[in-house]
Amino acid sequence: MAGARGTWNSSFGFIMAAVGSAVGLGNLVRFPRELAENGGAAFLFVYLILLLLVGLPAILGEMSIGKMTQMSPVNAFRKLGGEHGKKWAVIGVAGMLAAMFVLFFYTVMTGWTLRFFLGGITGAWFDDPSGYYGDIAYGPATIFWHLLVSIITVYIVSRGISGGIEKVTVIIIPALFAILIGIVLYAAFQPGAIDGYKELFDPDFSELTPNNIAAATGQVFFSLSLGQGAMLTYASYMDKKQSVSKDGTTIALADTGVALMAGMMVFPVLAFTGLLASNDPAVQEALGGSFGTAFIALPNAFVAMGDVMGRIVGTVFFLGLFFAALSSAISLMEVPTSVLIDRFELPRWKSAVLIGLITYSFGVVSSINETWFTLYDEIAINVFIVLGVAFTTFFAGWVAKGVGKELDSGLRSRVGVYIVWLMRTVTPVAILAVFFFGGLFGTGADGGIEFWANDAGWNRLWRELKLGFGFE
Ligand code: TRP
Repeated sequence: MAGARGTWNSSFGFIMAAVGSAVGLGNLVRFPRELAENGGAAFLFVYLILLLLVGLPAILGEMSIGKMTQMSPVNAFRKLGGEHGKKWAVIGVAGMLAAMFVLFFYTVMTGWTLRFFLGGITGAWFDDPSGYYGDIAYGPATIFWHLLVSIITVYIVSRGISGGIEKVTVIIIPALFAILIGIVLYAAFQPGAIDGYKELFDPDFSELTPNNIAAATGQVFFSLSLGQGAMLTYASYMDKKQSVSKDGTTIALADTGVALMAGMMVFPVLAFTGLLASNDPAVQEALGGSFGTAFIALPNAFVAMGDVMGRIVGTVFFLGLFFAALSSAISLMEVPTSVLIDRFELPRWKSAVLIGLITYSFGVVSSINETWFTLYDEIAINVFIVLGVAFTTFFAGWVAKGVGKELDSGLRSRVGVYIVWLMRTVTPVAILAVFFFGGLFGTGADGGIEFWANDAGWNRLWRELKLGFGFE
């Protein structure tokens, strides 16, 4: 039946699709802000260590499970779980739900990027670059753009692995790289760009608090699309001859490279256009958050570049953002779709349409209400993804048989045992530590570390949950 599920046409196609999954708004919007805000080079240092000790074993574990079974998440955990397979399948179900939770707000954001791209062509946001985001972010019109993105995503997924997902990603991902490199180089040669690099990288080791380390871990997971069966699903369509270790490492490196390039694009652009030093209160406030940086401060910077240049760079930038977001939305949609195909033997197009309808409906509230948007976002990232990665990696390390061998296949040296050792020990412990410490501790009002701090972790989640349901 492997043929009916579909396979990638080429190993390049698989890597583009997987890089497309990993590279998304997390890299281009979230990472630059987190880096600048949480200690610059000091944060980067922690990020890279976490990537090596936690992110890499986790992505390799997920991919091995997918490639060994050639099944969608629920069936894959069931099969490798042996006699307790039914219980282990819960990880797959949770992963599928997590992917859907991310979709509830991710397609809304993808709609913003599409609108900013088209608005760049028509010049819609050039008159009022600070107000445009406020006008379009949440509201009835957003429901329409969210619908449009959902339809595009469902359509591509319904066309299948090589006929839909691969065909699209082999075009848009190289295009995204070209756009990024182009803007990074352009910005680098402008006088004043240097202040942007300073803002981005200037190391501040006092920022390495438990919260920020937890944030870095969350960012590694989100950025690599882990804990939701996405990499597992894509790897299940791999050719047996491909190497999980090689391809997984390539994907992780490409993802980190893009995140760094995004920072080296965003901050120099903000610097040389004078936006970083601007005393416009709207801009200063926008620079405090990741959405504001991308959707308010940057449009202002593009306008400051002048009519022609600003129009070109701005339009191309948002096109890149749209490509990055779309390719991630596609892979998020593929996870639950593949589960329906495998478990209920529904045709692909029916599964995709069904999942699209569900995620669209739940997403409607986040296209009109910021509280729900944030709630989905926080539940997905702080709860589902963290637990998903912890359990998946634990499973790959302790329960599934043959992971070490799978990791060795296609390689000349034997690295499997070491990676499996990391999966068994360091990775799950680090993740659970982050889950508890990141959830329980935060920066208190006096700047010190405080238990159950007001604006951190589970306390914040709890407040938002009450807000979302209207209890506060
Ligand atoms: N990695 C994506 C980004 O950086 C977002 C994402 C999170 C994702 N989890 C995912 C994408 C699962 C696809 C599948 O923006």
